[in-house]
Amino acid sequence: MKVSILIVIVLSSFFTGCRTGSTSGKENVYAIIPAPVSLREMRGNFTFTIKSNIILSAVNDENKLAADFLAALIKNPTGFIIPVVQGKKGVSGSVFMSIDKALTSAEGYTLKVTSRRIEIKARTAAGLFYAVQTIRQLLPPAVEKDSIVNNLTLKVPCCEIADEPRFGYRGMHLDVGRHMFPVEYVKRYIDMIALHKMNTFHWHLTEDQGWRIEIKKYPRLTEVGAFRKETVVGHPGKNPVYDGNPYGGFYSQDEVRQIVAYAKSKFVTIIPEIEMPGHSLAALAAYPELACTKGPFEVGKKWGVVEDVYCAGKEETFKFLEDVLTEVIDLFPGEYIHIGGDECPKTRWEKCPLCQKRIKDEGLKDEKELQSYFIKRIEKFLVSKGKRLIGWDEILEGGLAPEATVMSWRGVAGGIEAAKQGHDVIMSPNKYAYLDYYQCEPEGQPLAIGGYLPLENVYSFDPQFAELSTEEQKHILGVQGNVWSEYLNTPQYMEYMAYPRMFAISEIGWTPAYKKDFEDFLARLKVQSLRYDKIGINYFKGEYRNTRAERK
Ligand code: ACM
Ligand code: ZN
Repeated sequence: MKVSILIVIVLSSFFTGCRTGSTSGKENVYAIIPAPVSLREMRGNFTFTIKSNIILSAVNDENKLAADFLAALIKNPTGFIIPVVQGKKGVSGSVFMSIDKALTSAEGYTLKVTSRRIEIKARTAAGLFYAVQTIRQLLPPAVEKDSIVNNLTLKVPCCEIADEPRFGYRGMHLDVGRHMFPVEYVKRYIDMIALHKMNTFHWHLTEDQGWRIEIKKYPRLTEVGAFRKETVVGHPGKNPVYDGNPYGGFYSQDEVRQIVAYAKSKFVTIIPEIEMPGHSLAALAAYPELACTKGPFEVGKKWGVVEDVYCAGKEETFKFLEDVLTEVIDLFPGEYIHIGGDECPKTRWEKCPLCQKRIKDEGLKDEKELQSYFIKRIEKFLVSKGKRLIGWDEILEGGLAPEATVMSWRGVAGGIEAAKQGHDVIMSPNKYAYLDYYQCEPEGQPLAIGGYLPLENVYSFDPQFAELSTEEQKHILGVQGNVWSEYLNTPQYMEYMAYPRMFAISEIGWTPAYKKDFEDFLARLKVQSLRYDKIGINYFKGEYRNTRAERK
């Protein structure tokens, strides 16, 4: 019989009255983000020594990732080389990691720390890895340093934790189209996703203002599409001003492979996004024959929605996109490919004889149904390659593709509608999850796109909806934070906007709703901020509360 972690949790909570993170006056040593389902604080500490080792019940490449990660953490401040060995049980002074198929959650784990030993159980290697991330957060920030200090006594406070995620999809997005971030920063972003037990990186790779992934069959995508002549200064008004500085770059396929492998080693799956039919100006600048009108086109220099999109009437468009997707599929082993689908003006299609012919030939009602035809055709191709399609919630318009997963961004209504239609949904509503919005009053802040989204508001989001039945609710796969980069023109500014709001997203995705507590989260954040300092994250340190809210 399978033992549910939840049963353990409910029982242990009942008997111990446990809390997520200590908010009492004493030192907050259990400041875990996202808060675990069940935490029982105990007296004493486990101390790593030169004789410690990590014993794995089943040594394989995946399980070893968790063990090696922990060994590296210990080595940083102590210099101890902790061996990873195979064994059947824990011994005094050791960390014992075992795979236990009796646990039901794919990513859950149990962790028991006593003064004598540490014991971790998980159903999968991912669960072992998340247990290690918990240990990491229980260790002092010094473990984050690469340089060896050699003399630090490393202690883990004793506790019993039973933990599992609330949602299977816990993602972060990054737009590299508007501004690009170096490979090392993308890896660092993945590191932070993993530290907070998130499992998906949505990589927004193509935009009007830049095509960022090498496609061997279409070299002009990066020769031409990856570079813009200049960039708008400030918000583009009626008379935009440009900086006169050429801007661009792209990730080679080798770099993409490197990042995909890196993400895999952190139990993060990458979902690449190739935008269509809209947000495609950079591709049209490279291959103008794919548009409804003649062009020529220039890679976008200012932000906003562009009228020129892929022509839905031309067969060449689909040939091109299928070729591009074939190379993308070869690079990304995950099950999903994101095809965008958002903000596609229909003005060119309305006037294009080929698009109108397509509408007639296919018996479509209007341009919205033409978009639906476009997405359905791409979905058929992706499914034939063993992949699943995700699109922004505009793909509902004109009818959803049969197996599409919807990413709800214009609020939650699109996602709720899709779930009612039996489609999977990822919740990423701009009101709660757009981390490019101002996070406090704009005065004195670097220029952002607009909005007002303090940490408290992000944290308040709950992807559970009264309108959905229990069955429909199961289609809500999880939550994602989006980091659009129109104004985020350096890695430092990107980090400033992403953190610590990313950690609120992580807790929405992982921690049961009944355990969520913003004050408690702030107390834990205060402790973990020291870790971010050590890692060198440029996180926002201002007002985390919603100062516009009326308080009682
Ligand atoms: C979006 O923000 N256009 C998905
Ligand atoms: Zn057309």
